[in-house]
Amino acid sequence: MIATVRPTRKLEGEIRVPGDKSISHRALILGSIASGHSRVRGLSPGADVQSTLRCVQELGAVLDGTTLEGCGVHGLHQAAGPLECGNSGTTMRLLAGLLAAQDFESELVGDESLSRRPMDRVVTPLREMGARASWPPLRVGGETPLHGFAHDMPVPSAQVKSALLIAGLFADGPTSVAESVRTRDHTELMLRAMGASVEVDGLRVQVTAADQLEPLDLDIPGDISAAAFWLVAAGLVRGSRVRLQATGVNPTRTALLGVLQGCGFEVTVSNPRFVGFEPVGDLNAGTAHNLKAIRIQDGMAAEMIDELPVLAVAATQMPGQSVIAGARELRVKESDRITAMEEGLSAMGADITATDDGWVINGPRELEGARVNSQGDHRVAMALAVAGLIAQGRTEIEGAECVEISYPDFFDHLEYLC
Ligand code: S3P
Repeated sequence: MIATVRPTRKLEGEIRVPGDKSISHRALILGSIASGHSRVRGLSPGADVQSTLRCVQELGAVLDGTTLEGCGVHGLHQAAGPLECGNSGTTMRLLAGLLAAQDFESELVGDESLSRRPMDRVVTPLREMGARASWPPLRVGGETPLHGFAHDMPVPSAQVKSALLIAGLFADGPTSVAESVRTRDHTELMLRAMGASVEVDGLRVQVTAADQLEPLDLDIPGDISAAAFWLVAAGLVRGSRVRLQATGVNPTRTALLGVLQGCGFEVTVSNPRFVGFEPVGDLNAGTAHNLKAIRIQDGMAAEMIDELPVLAVAATQMPGQSVIAGARELRVKESDRITAMEEGLSAMGADITATDDGWVINGPRELEGARVNSQGDHRVAMALAVAGLIAQGRTEIEGAECVEISYPDFFDHLEYLC
């Protein structure tokens, strides 16, 4: 599908972005091994979370409306065939942790993009725990019990951390994972709410085995990584005012807000509250003033890794030289996002140079509509759509159907706000 985006005079209105994708995956995976019925409201409607749902159903869990019937910690059964994870790295990596600890073998497969992504980062530590695990293709499980261990993650990754913590629920002895930067902690919060023993000491998290997990009762907040597109768009289009209701503002996910505020964006959180164990607020965005160049370096990138493509769009409108560095991980996401954004924004007239681990962007530059390609990557498609809103003329985004992965209503919301 080719999506056509035209410049807008302003963005205005109030929406609710889709349920948080990271929390949705975790609710389905951990709910599948809870003892009894979990209530999970507001799951992400995206294709990635549908992949996780299909997988946990193959393993024995049942979702009926908002009720998820768990199998208990030791109650999963072997799927009839390979588990299809689609485009979703979170599905594949988190399930690898869960399934490595089962006394049956599982094979996890994905689409072309997912098949290219590195899985050794979960396979290697799972093997250190005594699990049977190999890749490619990804096969795990059949060798139990696992042994708890202490792992220092070479690359900060919430997916790897979560996979190991989930495996640790089945291990004899404690399992601890240390990271160099605090990545999203939804797994830790959820496990604790389910009664598991989770200790956090600085950048190290430790779990011990659990024989039982209590079911969840959860309202999933809006996804701040989806909200990011509207925060940037509203900031860049004069006269805009957008409100994003009930969005997750877990501090391990809000680094982008601080960066935007520091660059002159008007972004505030109102009505802050807790919904269950996750902090939630309404995000308000208005036009940015007194813009300043963006500087992202070292560990900062890991804290806002999914928001960097749209931050690159913002950087094209900042005066001076913006540098986004320390983001080599972007090269192994659903696409090589460093190259994809360099190509897309260059075609639109931006002064952007890709580096090994990010971009150097000189601004401000007036963007021009162009035919650009999403590379099948949902975040690239949505970031280029935001660029289209501030460009002169018409922007055509090839492969725009991939927004289905995380935000099926993205183009409807765009039309509504414009
Ligand atoms: C996620 C972690 C991040 C992020 C991804 C979702 C998660 O990946 O990019 O979209 O839900 O744990 P990494 O763990 O590879 O950094």
